[in-house]
Amino acid sequence: MTKRYAVILAAGQGTRMKSKLYKVLHPVLGRPMVQHVIDQIKAVQLDQMVTVVSRGADRVVEHIGSDSAFVIQEEQLGTGHAVIQAEDVLKDKEGTTMVVCGDTPLISTETYQALFEHHEKEGASATILTTKTKEPSGYGRVIRSETNEVERIVEHKDANANERLVEEINTGTYCFDNQALFSALKEISNDNVQGEYYLPDVIEVLRGRQEKVSAFITPDFEETLGINDRLSLAQAEKIMKHRINAKHMRNGVAIIDPDHTYIHPDVVIKPDAVIHPGTILTGATTIESDAEIGPHSEVNNCYVGSDSVIKQSVTANSKIGERVKIGPYAHIRPESAIENDAKVGNFVEIKKATIGTGSKVSHLSYMGDAQIGNNVNVGCGTITVNYDGKHKYLTTIEDDSFIGCNSNLIAPVTIGADSYVAAGSTITKDVPAASLSVARARQTNKEGYATKLKNRQND
Ligand code: UD1
Ligand code: CA
Repeated sequence: MTKRYAVILAAGQGTRMKSKLYKVLHPVLGRPMVQHVIDQIKAVQLDQMVTVVSRGADRVVEHIGSDSAFVIQEEQLGTGHAVIQAEDVLKDKEGTTMVVCGDTPLISTETYQALFEHHEKEGASATILTTKTKEPSGYGRVIRSETNEVERIVEHKDANANERLVEEINTGTYCFDNQALFSALKEISNDNVQGEYYLPDVIEVLRGRQEKVSAFITPDFEETLGINDRLSLAQAEKIMKHRINAKHMRNGVAIIDPDHTYIHPDVVIKPDAVIHPGTILTGATTIESDAEIGPHSEVNNCYVGSDSVIKQSVTANSKIGERVKIGPYAHIRPESAIENDAKVGNFVEIKKATIGTGSKVSHLSYMGDAQIGNNVNVGCGTITVNYDGKHKYLTTIEDDSFIGCNSNLIAPVTIGADSYVAAGSTITKDVPAASLSVARARQTNKEGYATKLKNRQND
């Protein structure tokens, strides 16, 4: 089988983004666009992948990690110049080299695969992935001969009025015979409006050498969208969002309003889960069957067990068991576990805490650095006082305890199993199991005193 290589162009400044972030690192549904490109390409069996980055692009390298080799393009002199940077890595190889832009994150593995196959079947020296659009502005146009053969590509800025009418565009993705590519690159110049070495100019060079140049027209312009500014970035986000939502719906997930539901690529959702509008599911999140998320909830890196409900809440890096109820308006912060049948109600914040099976923290509480056993009831307004300005301390509430409303539990402290804490207590010492603890001033009533006070004020 022919050897296959890929060069990913990711060194451009992305000036049209008007951003301090490298263009290819701008996220599309939480993942840098270049990473989408690499993820889709690596599913095609490749013998080598090389990514061209600019100097100081440590963050690009960091994101792509071990998936690709890297070469540096010191100065951004154009896409042709960028490919030349990969010459040292690839020049001795025989086979097909695909060149892909790091700013076309929607192209799928299937399209890359089809392009490779078309190129190899045709025995072409170069194959351009092209598509047609009524709005070709900004893209390079594919100029064909009278016999309909691809002759060259002209960039939008260099094109004359007639050429600009052409609706077939260069998607920026190509397959080349590896040797022919690097040899043709030696002949391109920067004699054009932008003063750049254009990769598409190798097409004309190859044609001049009577080499076979082919085009593979994909019907899906949307998929080939190139991201150059924030408008096209938002467009890509929208397209990818619908693609991902459609996949989940086909798998049996109920998405009530796919226009307003944002599911990142790594999220796993089981059939019969219901995702309500305004929900954002990110990171390595798993939602089990029959769970209901939203409306207006954000779940990042969480496991959510079956039949659980999360309403108008934010949860991160935590495990949520089965039949759990969260919200409305709860905040589950990292390293928490809400066990089966537990409830975390409105205006409750949980941080690095375990809420045991069947336990309830129903209203207006803060449970931080806490281990709460099973069947515990934490009354409204209870606070774990976990921080002394320097260190954090643990609060433990053992099984079957009842914490009265508006209690302060000053950590480190343990409330033994089967205990009661009277409402309004400030607990500073451990409470032994099966005890009632009252830690508040005793009430005194002075009968008639209010009347006396009022009379005195009226004098
Ligand atoms: C390019 C094509 C155009 C095509 C369009 C498709 C050229 C000259 N033009 O135009 O025909 O229709 O893509 O989206 O190739 N890059 C580098 N180093 C550089 C310059 C660019 O690595 O010196 C990288 C960029 O990071 C980017 C890619 O190459 O990922 C494309 O560059 P960009 O400037 O976006 O090209 P377009 O003007 O969109
Ligand atoms: Ca581009």
